[in-house]
Amino acid sequence: MSLHFESQSDPYLQPARACQIRRGVPADADLLARFATRTFIDTYGEYNHPDNLHLHLSASYGVAQQQAELADRRIATLLAYRDEQLAAFAQVRCGEVPACVSGGAPVELHRFYVDRVWHGHGVSQSLLAEARRAAREFDAATLWLKVWERNPRAIAFYTKCHFVDVGTADFFVGNDRQTDRVLALDLRGNRAIAAT
Ligand SMILES: CC(C)(COP(=O)(O)OP(=O)(O)OC[C@H]1O[C@@H](n2cnc3c(N)ncnc32)[C@H](O)[C@@H]1OP(=O)(O)O)[C@@H](O)C(=O)NCCC(=O)NCCS
Repeated sequence: MSLHFESQSDPYLQPARACQIRRGVPADADLLARFATRTFIDTYGEYNHPDNLHLHLSASYGVAQQQAELADRRIATLLAYRDEQLAAFAQVRCGEVPACVSGGAPVELHRFYVDRVWHGHGVSQSLLAEARRAAREFDAATLWLKVWERNPRAIAFYTKCHFVDVGTADFFVGNDRQTDRVLALDLRGNRAIAAT
């Protein structure tokens, strides 16, 4: 396994090395599908009707879907390990950008999930530092994301990491239309991105 340790000079990294992070490959599809399904249910299961949850999970987190995403050169998938167990994953994705994101060269932080046993232990900071690095490798100047408006912990985390609220976007869990906040981060030195 090829492991990458984050630079101690990164301002988002806590003093201790929080985790080991590597790039995902298609052979990780089964592992990632199971982990992504579990962490999505942990986060949002109680807020969604089981039918909508099932529709969303089967459309987004099946093994074939994960295999395709892991093979997609426009997506960087990051797998974070603690104690040799998968503890978190993130995906940085080049693609469509909502109109409310005005920063230059935007790339999306498409998925960002830490296993709940590792919340508050610095894994998220290390993973975000690596996601920023992956975005810069896509020549991004702006990292943007969507987060459910009723996910206060995630919004607090991103705000702490200097993301700025720039608008809203729809998000569908099955047939249920929900509202996400759209947040953006200037990768060229945390300059504030104007909210619209
Ligand atoms: C969102 C996530 C990545 C953040 O990682 P984390 O390790 O939990 O983040 P941290 O503990 O460093 O920061 C969370 C902050 O929210 C605060 N917080 C916790 N619960 C909160 C709540 N209900 N309301 C507001 N703030 C809250 C914490 O106190 C902390 O702030 P502090 O460091 O100033 O005390 C992680 O919680 C996670 O993976 N959650 C489930 C998946 C998810 O929601 N992903 C985001 C999808 S867009």
